[in-house]
Amino acid sequence: MENVTVVDHPLVRHKLSHMRKKETDSARFRLLLREISLLLGYEVTRDLKTEDRTIETPLAEMGAPFLSGRELVLISILRAGNGLLEGMLDLIPSAQVGHVGLYRDPDTLMAVEYYFKVPGNLGDRPVILLDPMLATGNSAVAAAERIKAAGARQIKFLCLLSAPEGIEAFHAAHPDVPVFTAAIDERLNDHGYIVPGIGDAGDRIYGTQ
Ligand code: URA
Repeated sequence: MENVTVVDHPLVRHKLSHMRKKETDSARFRLLLREISLLLGYEVTRDLKTEDRTIETPLAEMGAPFLSGRELVLISILRAGNGLLEGMLDLIPSAQVGHVGLYRDPDTLMAVEYYFKVPGNLGDRPVILLDPMLATGNSAVAAAERIKAAGARQIKFLCLLSAPEGIEAFHAAHPDVPVFTAAIDERLNDHGYIVPGIGDAGDRIYGTQ
């Protein structure tokens, strides 16, 4: 699929399989999600720019690469996006953080916004939009529209699991935004859940039902 990177490293696949199991409790689910986000984060940040700076090791002077350019912005789609955000912040502690609050109307499955707070200078920074589930694509499409309206131009979308329907809808709306995911599952069910999936990501992370 064009503009989609499936991060199918054996460690990612193994951890995701444990997350899928219905008997995996919230504490373990959160830990696995945090660990997987480190691995996904490694791939989604692969093209970050570096510049050499002169340093001294105990043995010699050298030009050593450091991250350069404007700081990265991580934008979490509440609430499940925070599960990915934790690991991404472990990886890149200097990243700036924004939040988009969206819930799915259970009848229409459309995204309804209830919160929006992002750093003011999105235009010249790489932005990674985070939501574990790309299901119908409605939330991701709406969040990407909102952050584009707020100035974001270099956006990537990072999720744990995606459905073919969600990828198609997202790409139709945002062909310029590459998608990174650990797996593409079979389909959506009638309630807009990914099958076989992991269930409701927010409920699995926070132990709500
Ligand atoms: N959101 C979830 O949390 N899970 C799904 O399967 C689909 C959307």
